[in-house]
Amino acid sequence: MSDHLHDVLIIGSGAAGLTLALKLGASVRVAVLSKATLSDASTYWAQGGVAAVLDETDSTDSHVADTLVAGAGLCHEDAVKFTVENGPDAIRWLIDQGVSFTLDASEQPHLTREGGHSHRRIIHAADATGRAISTTLVSRVRECANVELFENRVAVDLITTQKAGLPGGNRVLGAYVLNSETGEVEVFRAKFVALATGGASKAYLYTTNPDIATGDGIAMAWRAGCRVANLEFNQFHPTCLYHPQAKGFLVTEAMRGEGAYLRLPDGERFMPRFDERAELAPRDIVARAIDYEMKRLGIRCVYLDITHKPADFITSHFPNIYQQCLEYGIDITKEPIPVVPAAHFTCGGVMVNKSSRTDIPNLYAIGETSFTGLHGANRMASNSLLECFVYAMAAARDIQKSLAVTASPPVCSPWDESQVRNSDEDVVILHNWEELRRFMWDYVGIVRTDKRLARALHRIELLQNEINEYYSNYRISTNLIELRNLVLVAELIVRSALARKESRGLHYTLDYPETSNTIHDTILEP
Ligand code: FAD
Ligand code: SIN
Repeated sequence: MSDHLHDVLIIGSGAAGLTLALKLGASVRVAVLSKATLSDASTYWAQGGVAAVLDETDSTDSHVADTLVAGAGLCHEDAVKFTVENGPDAIRWLIDQGVSFTLDASEQPHLTREGGHSHRRIIHAADATGRAISTTLVSRVRECANVELFENRVAVDLITTQKAGLPGGNRVLGAYVLNSETGEVEVFRAKFVALATGGASKAYLYTTNPDIATGDGIAMAWRAGCRVANLEFNQFHPTCLYHPQAKGFLVTEAMRGEGAYLRLPDGERFMPRFDERAELAPRDIVARAIDYEMKRLGIRCVYLDITHKPADFITSHFPNIYQQCLEYGIDITKEPIPVVPAAHFTCGGVMVNKSSRTDIPNLYAIGETSFTGLHGANRMASNSLLECFVYAMAAARDIQKSLAVTASPPVCSPWDESQVRNSDEDVVILHNWEELRRFMWDYVGIVRTDKRLARALHRIELLQNEINEYYSNYRISTNLIELRNLVLVAELIVRSALARKESRGLHYTLDYPETSNTIHDTILEP
């Protein structure tokens, strides 16, 4: 059985994981795991950009204030300040790494706008910012002799002293990891482990996220004993392309930032009826307005219209979206784009402090899998990548401080396969996967009620019994690991939603439509 030993094990190769790997320093022995290829992550698909105060007419106070407003009273102000204050340094670091952001006529970074931002403060690489960031960071990390990269490795569960029945205080020791090419479950041991596994939007039938977004880090941390917070706040992006052949293709909010209108099939521009900020209201408000209009009129989509802008403006600002839509037969310079909301971002996650430490000693969580308090009840556009960089850098500093005085973990028991056999009915996994995502969409979506949530919880319990039995009796596969995690995260989402007896930000329930005067996080303890 393969047994790997490193100083730091990073599970995930998106913006958060790669930033941590690059920031730890050349003397630290690092392993980075990725479920598929290194760039198979939400990071690669990011479009709009990264929010940061980069213009002299902008200010830290303004970015902080906008984030607090978008977060509907639930952001932790200290986390917001910490993130925003560290934003410009994070951007300078990305530029030093070689990320080529779009420049304006005076060769300065071009800044665009998105919902909730009162200033132009989104630095971007045309409409494919994530691709520029991911490819640059992947190239940099491939040059690091101290970093070992492991693709097609699916972390199954964390190993802790407590779970392993070893003496001494509890701490993380490493993880069991499925090599999806060989089928072997390997042991990765490390002094420190960082969960950088991204979000859980695959819990929903329609999502902008890639297939890897199955909440694995949240589920692993929960099973290991970490608290999670605010998982009821699932962000639905208002404008995902509506086309039978397009699988969750996002149409960036920056298009509304550059003047696009949302229209009904009869051409009416409807957002001004819902909010004075119209198309640039925070995402929760825009997604809810679209959902309301779609249900009111019985229509399958609404339209995003930028045809009033010159064609060369559109093709130079949104070259990627222009090309993609053209492939589906839509010329966005001449016709409006059919769009629907889709699950996009997990605002809650594994609770961490400002050094990205979780409840378990030596275990860190960074990026979308974590809960830092930054996003409150609704993440503001382009604050997510910023959070990945700032908190990964904080984790690197914290790990560096205690690396020399931390002992290597002891040898751990190998994965036990003595009681399992090969699965003869994988259809069960596929069926349960589809069922889960369908009822999460129908019952735990943009508009909720207690009755719908209770229905969802009941179905989750049935699925859990079946999946746990499957997990105990059959050899594990990537699909089974992901389904087991997703159904657990779905349970945590529904329990969090049931606990919140008010509507706030992304959590809207017909049973409690008012926002309460009492402000509290929803914290679940294992
Ligand atoms: P990810 O980038 O998702 O990376 C997760 C990594 O973890 C992957 O490498 C995956 O393989 C690995 N992994 C997961 N589970 C396991 C496991 N069990 N074992 C091993 N590895 C595992 N945010 C912005 O701020 N600005 C934007 O413009 C923007 N646009 C977006 C557009 C789209 C289409 C999407 C989907 C998101 C967008 N977001 C944007 C959100 C942002 O991209 C993500 O929140 C951010 O990239 C998350 O980075 P991450 O490093 O936390 O996770
Ligand atoms: C987008 O480009 O609309 C996505 C931005 C984000 O999710 O922050």
